[in-house]
Amino acid sequence: MKNIIFALALTVSTAAFAQEDIKVSADRGKMVYLQTCMACHQLTGQGIPGAFPPLSKTDYVTGDARRFVAIVLKGISGVMTVDGKVYATGMPQPELTFPILKDDKNIADVTNYVRTNFGNEIKEAVTPEFVAEVRKEFAGRTTQWTEAELLAFPAKGAAPAK
Ligand code: HEC
Repeated sequence: MKNIIFALALTVSTAAFAQEDIKVSADRGKMVYLQTCMACHQLTGQGIPGAFPPLSKTDYVTGDARRFVAIVLKGISGVMTVDGKVYATGMPQPELTFPILKDDKNIADVTNYVRTNFGNEIKEAVTPEFVAEVRKEFAGRTTQWTEAELLAFPAKGAAPAK
């Protein structure tokens, strides 16, 4: 009997592992969010109308993970439409403003936090290894993204935007 219960517990914990991964990372990511995103996107992730866009179910948040990480690294300049509303405040390059974002693990954690909160329900975790790849891919880029570049984000393997 004891063995059966043990075997059952083992099966359940293995099955939950992938989910557990993103949750554990997201829990750590809350602290990163409070330090590096909250001032603009707010505690609720809903932003401020006319100034800072929401991080709730937008294509940029729930879509291509590579593009999301690229935004967290380089920021955005110029005018951008999110959920039909126009923003032009600009997002300064987070990796330059906040030294803790030099750490790939912190970017993975904050990405996982945003993608599993504010009504977002992404199941697949972004890993520090994935962040390292994206960081390397755009290492030579010194400017923020424009909306046009983000909308035409290069498919994996395509030449990175300069
Ligand atoms: C200084 C303010 C500021 C900070 C800090 C900031 N952002 Fe932004 N963010 C903006 C603004 C403003 C825009 C809209 C772009 C524009 O105005 O050009 C934006 C746009 C975005 C977008 C794309 C639009 C959307 O709402 O989906 C994402 C994703 C995003 N930010 C994520 C983050 C994350 C994650 C962090 C923390 C690591 C962060 N931002 C930190 C101001 C900020």
